[in-house]
Amino acid sequence: MNNKNFKRYTVTAALPYANGPLHIGHLAGCYVPSDIYVRYLRSQGREVAYICGSDEHGVAITIKAVKEGKTPQQVVDQYHEMMKGSFKQFGISFDHYSRTSAQVHHETAQGFFTDLYEKGEFLEQTTEQYYDEEAGQFLADRYIEGICPKCGNEHAYGDQCEKCGSSLSPTDLINPKSKLSGRTPVLKETKHWFLDLARYQPFLKKWILEDHADDWKNNVLGQCRSWLEAGDGLQARSMTRDLDWGIKVPLEGADGKVLYVWFDAPIGYISSTKEWAAEKGIDWQPYWKDQDTKLVHFIGKDNIVFHCIIFPAILKTHGGYVLPENVPANEFLNLEGEKISTSRNWAVWLHEYLEEFPGKQDVLRYVLTANAPETKDNDFTWKDFQGRNNSELVAIYGNFVNRAVVLTQKFYQGEVPARGELRGYDKGVLSALEEFPEKIAASIERYRFREALSIVMDFARLGNKYLADTEPWKEIKTDPERTKTILNIALNIAANLAIVSEPFLPFTASKLFEMFGMDQVSWSHAGNGKLLSEGKTLGKMGLLFEKIEDETVEKQVQKLLDSKKMNEAANAPVAPMKELITYDDFAKLDLRVVTILEAEPMPKSKKLLKLKVDIGLGHRTVLSGVADHFAPEFLVGKQVTMLINLAPRKMMGTDSEGMILMAEDKDGKLKLLQPHEGTANGSTIS
Ligand code: MF3
Ligand code: ZN
Repeated sequence: MNNKNFKRYTVTAALPYANGPLHIGHLAGCYVPSDIYVRYLRSQGREVAYICGSDEHGVAITIKAVKEGKTPQQVVDQYHEMMKGSFKQFGISFDHYSRTSAQVHHETAQGFFTDLYEKGEFLEQTTEQYYDEEAGQFLADRYIEGICPKCGNEHAYGDQCEKCGSSLSPTDLINPKSKLSGRTPVLKETKHWFLDLARYQPFLKKWILEDHADDWKNNVLGQCRSWLEAGDGLQARSMTRDLDWGIKVPLEGADGKVLYVWFDAPIGYISSTKEWAAEKGIDWQPYWKDQDTKLVHFIGKDNIVFHCIIFPAILKTHGGYVLPENVPANEFLNLEGEKISTSRNWAVWLHEYLEEFPGKQDVLRYVLTANAPETKDNDFTWKDFQGRNNSELVAIYGNFVNRAVVLTQKFYQGEVPARGELRGYDKGVLSALEEFPEKIAASIERYRFREALSIVMDFARLGNKYLADTEPWKEIKTDPERTKTILNIALNIAANLAIVSEPFLPFTASKLFEMFGMDQVSWSHAGNGKLLSEGKTLGKMGLLFEKIEDETVEKQVQKLLDSKKMNEAANAPVAPMKELITYDDFAKLDLRVVTILEAEPMPKSKKLLKLKVDIGLGHRTVLSGVADHFAPEFLVGKQVTMLINLAPRKMMGTDSEGMILMAEDKDGKLKLLQPHEGTANGSTIS
């Protein structure tokens, strides 16, 4: 099956939820790999539709809307534009980026549902589901929280406990509560349409585990196997939901019901293709229906079941569509040893990267590919980012190209020198040059982008070594003719390098193409040792890569740690209420507005400041343990609140005659409690 000759390619990348900005995990998971693949195919002259768009339905969106106090529409409008912009800036070269709120998508998804309904593919089942009587809504799994029956976690969701990883159903939860109103939900009957996946099991088993046993990635096959070979087989899955955000179920009597987001979203690939084709004035159908179309879905591992089992079952049952030839899913990328988390703000956000590392998109693309989670989860660290930039991109790739070009400018006013007689060493290098493109291509065709990139770098190393060995900067003094040959070869290696690195480093490649004056760039030119004609004048070369300093990456690590701290503080529990007291208990406290007149460090104490305060009844001395929080001069002149009838206490030989009141924030920071405008000293507080 994989040897077949395909006439065109439909390449999709998972539709990201429009519920937040993009981070490096998104890029590493499927957008950089799919972009490499597509750029390579285009360079090969193959016909490609590279399709994506925003996934705008489901509870991922509605939950975010509740959290931000916005409507779901506002949420998706905001993030759709933002994500589209980030993709563009990173050179992710979609042919079309649509969104599932598009009219054409609503129609296409409803069309699929109706088709399957009319074929009698759905099981109609009435089940009991949790309903929030106050909100007047059935509750999606994620809207229910309760105690996990397995581990006792008090904040388990209706579908999963994030603490112990168990998958749950809402009725498993002990003491369930609605996240909408906080009330205990009630069970209420509701009707839904289920896809009876067991019907497709024999077909899926053969198609995946036999036909694709050799060409699908092991991590993908492994997950499919665990679904398809599970003892009790594939379970029926509801393709509808009780939710007021999404695509209406196109049936009579289905008011208030929408399509399950995982039913509609993959169909979004088709709708997006339709929209693209309409804009271009071509027919979309060959891209999905012709047997000589190769359909490839790039996704992250959490999407495997939907793309390998559910969506193919839908396509197959509908009929007339091709099935994916491959689903090269990646595993997850972690960040500095921890899972990337949007809610904990443990992420490198693309829009922030673009601001902090302007013009360095290729560096991130490079690092994410060199360290791609292709076969197992991997870790992104800023140290590795810096290391790969400095010792690979700068020291090998950049150094080689720079030396070749700068010497040509210096010796030959930027004209490609003529090649003279070749030595054995030159011939060896040129024959290696011929072989590189094929090796790189073979790895790309097998979705091994990491391996492909490492071969690209070996090619750059070859160039670097060629210059180091032949030393044209010395040769020029003794053998000018020989020097011409060396630089001719070096420049040709660089031009070839530009072609084979374009899928990975498109910004860098385009600088090189411009400098070498290469316009019609195609993979078929790679491997040619005479790509640059003698006498051709090189253009100006922009900076390719520059060293990244320790300071820069340390700052990034610090930023992560800071945001983690802030987050922990924001999520820290508020101290529980103390025991009730009577008014008489309270009335014993003599609280006053006072002014701090003097403040100085307490000799021999790290913590204490010695304050002199005007309490309206004279001056008092107070020792306050705030030296870590406030500079003495900051406190002088401030009006604050004070408990003045606290029995004096001796500390380090000095009496402290009262206590200044402070609020302690969740992060441990102290804040002064001040009257909102000037108040006479000694004013009582009650
Ligand atoms: N929005 C999903 C996610 O971020 C991916 C949807 S892929 C599609 O996990 F096929 F459904 F579009
Ligand atoms: Zn649990």
